[in-house]
Amino acid sequence: MQSLLAPIKTFLGCETPHAWVAEAAKPENLPIVLLDHLVCELKAAQSAMFLIRRYAVDKESGDALLAWLKPFEDFTYRKVGDWKALANHEKLSKSMIPKSGTPYGQDLIDKMVLLIKEELHHFYQVLEIMEGYGIAYDTISSSRYAKGLLQHVKTHEPAALVDKLICGAFIEARSCERFAALAPHVDKPLGDFYISLLRSEARHYQDYLTLAEEIAGKDITERVAFFRSVEAKLISAPDEDFKFHSGAPVH
Ligand SMILES: [Fe+2]
Ligand SMILES: [Fe+2]
Repeated sequence: MQSLLAPIKTFLGCETPHAWVAEAAKPENLPIVLLDHLVCELKAAQSAMFLIRRYAVDKESGDALLAWLKPFEDFTYRKVGDWKALANHEKLSKSMIPKSGTPYGQDLIDKMVLLIKEELHHFYQVLEIMEGYGIAYDTISSSRYAKGLLQHVKTHEPAALVDKLICGAFIEARSCERFAALAPHVDKPLGDFYISLLRSEARHYQDYLTLAEEIAGKDITERVAFFRSVEAKLISAPDEDFKFHSGAPVH
């Protein structure tokens, strides 16, 4: 576990504040932590789907992706369907055809399709955990975190895509660091679940970063450093809205 976490801690600009861990470990906050975590898993799948549809495939493949995520979105945003049936939708039925003229298309597709599959599986696993605790699904508002990062994404290509990939790397890396920080402070089965997520989240962070470097075709150190400081501020600055990716809790 330490070998997974060491590069992530070096990548991130700060560690999760102790006060956030203490807040997240409070039993009364468990529903918020799990519900927000659940929605974050779907959002991770959705952002990866967006990247493939926007940059790498034709309309037909794009539609197959939309159909793949639809039952998860219906459940989450419209409370439609039985969550147990989602287990049958974790796989993509069609192979993705890269658009011509995108040299990085196949790599983006391969990495992001695997990522979506894993996030959808995590989504289902969080629902199973929630059922174990008797926590019913309910909608939850999003924190300032992702918006706070993505508002800095450039508006021209390929800089916009590179920025989105860098943001993806930070979100994955932070989730990984947070699961590891929280695991020792919660019930053993929940802590074990968090630890089981570390390996894939660490790979997701690495995949986003590799794609960003590949697609930029030049050194991105400065851009990564810029987002590192934005991310670290969102994590360490006071935040009244307690969520999975919130800043330092305010009482
Ligand atoms: Fe995940
Ligand atoms: Fe992930």
